[in-house]
Amino acid sequence: MSRIMVTGGAGFIGSNLIDELLRTHNKVVAVDNFNDYYNPKIKENNIKDILDNMRRLSIEPDSFKLYREDIRDREKMEEILTNHEITIIIHLASMAGVRPSIEKPNLYYDVNINGTLALLEVARKNPVNKLIFASSSSVYGNNQKIPFEEDDSVDYPISPYAASKKAGELICYTYHHLYEMSIACLRFFTVYGPRQRPDLAINKFTRLMMTDQPIPVYGDGSTQRDYTFIGDIVDGIMKTIDWIDKKEKKYEIFNLGGSKKITLNEMIATIEKALNIKAVVNRLPIQPGDVDKTFADISKAREILGYHPSKAFEEGIKDYIRWLRKHIKEDC
Ligand SMILES: NC(=O)c1ccc[n+]([C@@H]2O[C@H](COP(=O)([O-])OP(=O)(O)OC[C@H]3O[C@@H](n4cnc5c(N)ncnc54)[C@H](O)[C@@H]3O)[C@@H](O)[C@H]2O)c1
Repeated sequence: MSRIMVTGGAGFIGSNLIDELLRTHNKVVAVDNFNDYYNPKIKENNIKDILDNMRRLSIEPDSFKLYREDIRDREKMEEILTNHEITIIIHLASMAGVRPSIEKPNLYYDVNINGTLALLEVARKNPVNKLIFASSSSVYGNNQKIPFEEDDSVDYPISPYAASKKAGELICYTYHHLYEMSIACLRFFTVYGPRQRPDLAINKFTRLMMTDQPIPVYGDGSTQRDYTFIGDIVDGIMKTIDWIDKKEKKYEIFNLGGSKKITLNEMIATIEKALNIKAVVNRLPIQPGDVDKTFADISKAREILGYHPSKAFEEGIKDYIRWLRKHIKEDC
């Protein structure tokens, strides 16, 4: 039985994607090393949620296989690919934080570049010739031209994380060229919603505000982000799977954003309104590696993939808070 492989399957985006893949009758193999970048218990809870949802929807237990392995372990990856008839790899595993990448550039390069290379090598040998790579809006650096288009220069990344994502896109192109693989690189723009990583601002701020603690705000609050609800990102990935399934020897880059600019102050005000709590702000200097603004031009994804993000930010924040209230645990 053919299966879709999801690397980073216990993480925020991966676990939400797996829920949808299983709900739509796909067979999934997940690979995750449950590293401690953030509390691994959160990742265990994500997997538990997937298994609970499977039981609730009467999905065959055999539809989902989890490997607690590292993508850099080529022998293991080879074993997994040969044990299952994998048709496509959704490569989401990475070291994902911008600021920590400045502290640990070697680790970020090892996982995000060598790990991606390891996977591409194993894929082309086995052969799995379709892959979706999780890139990031951070590749645009401090691009002054907005909204960001896929053809804009991405030669000036301002963090090791951003540079590692650009390097990932480049090595994907090389494997497409050499081995005729079909590869889509998806540049995600700040994703939020249920299961969001605890290091990301919306999660951090909401939990601090719910417990009457001050929130650390870097800069004067005028920096802007294009926030994308997790349901819209999952829909964009599902549409990319449909697209790549029908394509041979293609390489494309797509922006997946919400296509709206929201300032940091507006983001805080939206959470305040949803919680009915006034935030206590601890203002701090702008952090190195943080970009001024992100804003996606999504016309390419709209035209080619049929991607239509639909969640209004206020609604997405309310959904997230509803989820958080049900799931908040002291140890996470
Ligand atoms: N969340 C966002 O806003 C956002 C924005 C742009 C890009 N992205 C990219 O999307 C992908 C998913 O992000 P996320 O927010 O779900 O992050 P996440 O940290 O929640 O998920 C990544 C998962 O990969 C796993 N992982 C890390 N290194 C691994 C390795 N060597 N082997 C196996 N598994 C490993 C981690 O344990 C984690 O569960 C990442 O590639 C990230 O860079 C995310």
